[in-house]
Amino acid sequence: CGTPAERIAGLLEDFPDHPAPGVVFRDLSRVYAEPGLLAGLAAQVAADFRGAFDRVLAVESRGFLLGAAVAASAGLPLTLVRKPGKLPGTVHCAAYALEYGEDRLEIRTDAVAPGDRVLCIDDVLATGGTLGAAAELAEACGAKVAALVVLVELTGLGGRASLARYPLTALCEVP
Ligand code: PRP
Ligand code: HPA
Repeated sequence: CGTPAERIAGLLEDFPDHPAPGVVFRDLSRVYAEPGLLAGLAAQVAADFRGAFDRVLAVESRGFLLGAAVAASAGLPLTLVRKPGKLPGTVHCAAYALEYGEDRLEIRTDAVAPGDRVLCIDDVLATGGTLGAAAELAEACGAKVAALVVLVELTGLGGRASLARYPLTALCEVP
């Protein structure tokens, strides 16, 4: 019982100093382990954005979980944004800073039809670097970012402000 936000918040677990000293890692394992919860959240996202998007763009690796579930629920195509060197063919690449490091993401240049309205999906919004890079990659393919969607927004890390140019929905907000 409870709202989706309350259910997610009640299942999060905090791990201080993971994966680096000073970082408090909010782990979503119990959210994924809860039977039916992810599917229900995905159905809610698909319904809330119905008619406003043509395709889901999901970020490796934990973004694949909600992203795939939303695409399946909506009956729409799924595009994978992947870590470097994973995708074959010609790719667009975007570099970004993480709360605990630095990384790059890639998308196949032919993965999105120009003009597609994409829903960019990840599990957690922290500093916003990852979703910002994903949105940039969608735009490099000629897509329009309909919205960014995350399961959990860590509100203390400034991610929302760094992504102010996009509509952003968080299913649960935690400090
Ligand atoms: C985590 C998380 C988000 C990102 C959020 O991914 O899944 O993608 O960090 O951080 P940001 O808002 O500061 O960019 P991570 O890079 O750890 O990869 P993983 O999903 O493969 O574990
Ligand atoms: N939890 C899960 N994923 C994350 C976090 C976190 O605290 N920070 C950045 N990615």
